[in-house]
Amino acid sequence: MNDQTALITGASSGIGFELARCFARDDYRVVLVARHHDELQEAARLIHQEFQGVDVVLLPFDLSRPDTAERLYAATTQRGLTIDALVNDAGFGETGYFTDTAMQTELDMIQVNATSLVHLTKLYLRDMVERNSGRILQVGSIASFSPSPCQAVYAATKAFVLSFAEAVQHELKQQKSAVTMTILCPPPTATNFFHVAHAENTRAASHTVSARDVAEEGYDALMDGAARSLPTLGAKVNFFSSLLLPDSVLATLMNTQLHPVGK
Ligand SMILES: NC(=O)c1ccc[n+]([C@@H]2O[C@H](COP(=O)([O-])OP(=O)(O)OC[C@H]3O[C@@H](n4cnc5c(N)ncnc54)[C@H](OP(=O)(O)O)[C@@H]3O)[C@@H](O)[C@H]2O)c1
Repeated sequence: MNDQTALITGASSGIGFELARCFARDDYRVVLVARHHDELQEAARLIHQEFQGVDVVLLPFDLSRPDTAERLYAATTQRGLTIDALVNDAGFGETGYFTDTAMQTELDMIQVNATSLVHLTKLYLRDMVERNSGRILQVGSIASFSPSPCQAVYAATKAFVLSFAEAVQHELKQQKSAVTMTILCPPPTATNFFHVAHAENTRAASHTVSARDVAEEGYDALMDGAARSLPTLGAKVNFFSSLLLPDSVLATLMNTQLHPVGK
């Protein structure tokens, strides 16, 4: 055990689980957060199976509730856990024209993808800055770079995460802090995301990369203290296109990817 602790939200599946696996491999104690306890238990079983002796703490919390960040922070403090690495991975999307999608789903999405991410960052980053040590990985998306018709609110939350993370990165440098913040912008990735977002019948869902590859690249960038991780060629192409093309063209391209095929 290297005596360091990583807290990973959204750790029960997909990219979050694979990130938790990277920390466990490097002997971190891992604190896994998601809503469903049975799925957290299964994630813990898989981690223990592969990396015997790793300390795994399960904290089932719903990040769509406004008080969760405070309660989660209190839960780790009460257990005497110092969080050396925070991964804000929990997130979800929804697909369809904004006039057709459910408002409550999108309000919950803003809470999980953006508000709780900011709140957890506030609570744990203050402690890290005081210790002058720690790392934070914010999970954005290639959707952070472009307006995305059919996932308008989802992409807006991810643009928020990018802007927020880049601003705080700059502040940490100005404060001459050793704490680092990295933003991971995955391309379409084979996880439960497309099912949850009702996006299985889209072009984006048909050319995915592996969650393990995305997580490994993101983890390496986090450990290097890099500002940004753009896993695979797909994410890099998206990023550089967003620098060159106007938003109206990017929106048209994203619409092609996210509009349900045949509708
Ligand atoms: N897959 C992609 O194509 C893709 C591309 C770019 C970015 N991303 C981002 O990557 C991150 C991880 O997504 P994924 O692709 O790995 O999808 P996933 O397999 O569906 O994983 C989502 C994770 O978040 C948790 N979660 C969802 N709602 C939550 C809530 N209210 N409170 C606490 N935990 C919650 C889920 O567990 P419970 O359901 O048990 O709560 C699960 O552990 C997200 O931020 C997503 O936006 C994904």
